[in-house]
Amino acid sequence: MSVFHTRITELLGIEHPIIGGTMMHLSREELTAAISEAGGLGILASANFQDQASFRQAIKNIRQKTDKPFAVNLNMFPARKRLENHLYIDVILDEGVGIVETSGHKAPEEYIERLKKEGVKLIHKCVGVRYAKKAESLGVDAVTVVGYENGGATGVLDITTLCLVPRVVDSVSIPVIAGGGVADGRGLMAMLALGAEGVIMGTRFLVAEECPLHPRVKEVLLSATELDTVLVMRSVGNTHRVWKNRAAEATAEMETRNASLQELFKFVSGEQAEKMYLQGELHAGLLACGQGIGLVRDIKPARDIILEILKEAWETRKRLKAL
Ligand SMILES: Cc1cc2nc3c(=O)[nH]c(=O)nc-3n(C[C@H](O)[C@H](O)[C@H](O)COP(=O)(O)O)c2cc1C
Repeated sequence: MSVFHTRITELLGIEHPIIGGTMMHLSREELTAAISEAGGLGILASANFQDQASFRQAIKNIRQKTDKPFAVNLNMFPARKRLENHLYIDVILDEGVGIVETSGHKAPEEYIERLKKEGVKLIHKCVGVRYAKKAESLGVDAVTVVGYENGGATGVLDITTLCLVPRVVDSVSIPVIAGGGVADGRGLMAMLALGAEGVIMGTRFLVAEECPLHPRVKEVLLSATELDTVLVMRSVGNTHRVWKNRAAEATAEMETRNASLQELFKFVSGEQAEKMYLQGELHAGLLACGQGIGLVRDIKPARDIILEILKEAWETRKRLKAL
């Protein structure tokens, strides 16, 4: 029985209103299954898979680890390498995955009819009121909004979570999942207070034990603060908030000189990111990371992260009641 029962827990069939944000390269089977098994919603990043067979196998692997609901993300951001989303959808429908999250620079118009016809629950993630309203008008079941503090794509509107969430809650009638800077139980309570019915967290799960990020990178992240992120790639229309390592600083500096995308690839490519994720080369590439990293102090299993957040949220509730 959920302590925090909302339309989101109801809609998605999960115990706690905690969603593990899709993380390119990192949201693979282990992390997705661990978050779902702990009663949240894990999201598998389809874009991690270069063919239908490996994507299908990943879904099967998750099912071996948990029988609880999980979702798949369809990525609509610009990318050099990945399959056509319709090919991922073939597998999603074939395997009976019940929840899909879409995210990117546009509304998921072209996929909605096919997914809805098969009864798939649809969540669209965006960064502004007008995008949320558009997604609602297209028939998605829930909308996720993330503020400027968030790790990863921030868009161009630069609205903080505190201002964005209540505006979106007031503008749509479908349930809202909120994030950008949420990394503990106080953040969960704050989002619920603003009218959201669930939270999304990426940065907090970067250092979950099941996150396949090299241990050396995780260790260094533990001492990072809210000052240690920077926005990059705005000059090429793909703004991302990332951890401020040497690659990020060099990228930001190159952008002030209007470097081309080709030049930026020296640091921003998936190949560079993999050197960091897999081999622990701290300055090889970019790692999406939100300002909430300042609240992250320990590496532990996803289950313990979720339990800690629930405990802290509960204590926060008691503290507020006593005011
Ligand atoms: C390492 C990392 C990779 C991410 N990759 C993606 C992605 O591929 N697609 C996406 O929609 N969001 C991506 N995000 C954003 C998260 O799904 C989530 O919206 C965000 O992390 C929430 O804000 P927070 O970082 O403050 O918790 C990424 C975030 C991180 C930290």
